[in-house]
Amino acid sequence: MIRMRRLRASSNLRSLVRETVVTKDDLVYPVFIKEGKDIKEPVASMPGIYQYSADRFNEELDRVVNAGIKAILVFGIPSHKDEFGSEAYNDNGVTQNIIREIKKKVPDIIVIADVCLCEYTSHGHCGIICGHEILNDETLEPLAKMSVSLAKAGADIIAPSDMMDGRIAYIRKVLDSNGYKNTPIMAYSAKFASGYYSPFRDAAQSEPSFGDRKTYQMDPANGREAVRECENDIAEGADIIMVKPALAYLDVIKEVSNFTNYPLAAYNVSGEYSMVKAAALNGWIDEKRVVMENLTSIKRAGAGIIITYHAIDAAHWLKED
Ligand code: PBG
Ligand code: ZN
Repeated sequence: MIRMRRLRASSNLRSLVRETVVTKDDLVYPVFIKEGKDIKEPVASMPGIYQYSADRFNEELDRVVNAGIKAILVFGIPSHKDEFGSEAYNDNGVTQNIIREIKKKVPDIIVIADVCLCEYTSHGHCGIICGHEILNDETLEPLAKMSVSLAKAGADIIAPSDMMDGRIAYIRKVLDSNGYKNTPIMAYSAKFASGYYSPFRDAAQSEPSFGDRKTYQMDPANGREAVRECENDIAEGADIIMVKPALAYLDVIKEVSNFTNYPLAAYNVSGEYSMVKAAALNGWIDEKRVVMENLTSIKRAGAGIIITYHAIDAAHWLKED
């Protein structure tokens, strides 16, 4: 008889045949920096996650370093928003300033800068608008200016999350011509118009004031189109591609990882985090077990880079074992 249970008999046997192991090197931790002073504001819908002002951020940076996390994804929340999101490319803006400070304090940490206008626009959309239309080509220039400004501040990786067509090629060209030809681009390639982003929009204060993001983010029904999005971004010069969200899109991660050998990231988004936290806080699930199972599943599906709000906890759990 084929006895599958033979190799499950002990912990050491199980680890000998284990196919997928998450390590802390796989993890990227997102952080929210709010312009202002003396801010440590809990995000109500994301237990354990806070908005920090730059002067209070050291405490969070220490937690990241102590956990052994090597990469963070930075979101800035400016106090001044306008129709064009012009704070996004202010060389002294909230995001640029915190990136400079982080790189001064911890030079070897990988700072990934999210590039999008929605945290900076008064209307909360990811692009330049005309009436209720979100304009594609008009948005490319401010995204490229933002990218250069963030690279100049010290960002190690530029991560466009806007989903405008052609933005990877445009940003690549402008980065190159400004002396940043060695700055990698991590493209949010298959980013779906998802209900799982709601807690993030509290955290980043980026809820659109009208309509939704369905004319630029992808339809959750489309897996084949996700592969095309990744193909396009690779052709345009992306160094790393991303699928987002992660858990409801494991099939997409698998599909994309089968089609390309480019490094693939997956974003375990805010709503996915909050559901686990809510159930854990109610005592309905074992948080550590469920989080590690989720992260392992994302990696098993094919993502080598996992962006997750669980990163610090997971890194400590991995150390314990
Ligand atoms: C900005 C952006 C969003 C997220 C990352 N970058 C939100 C959105 O598109 O509305 C979502 C992250 C999360 O939910 O954790 N474009
Ligand atoms: Zn956006």
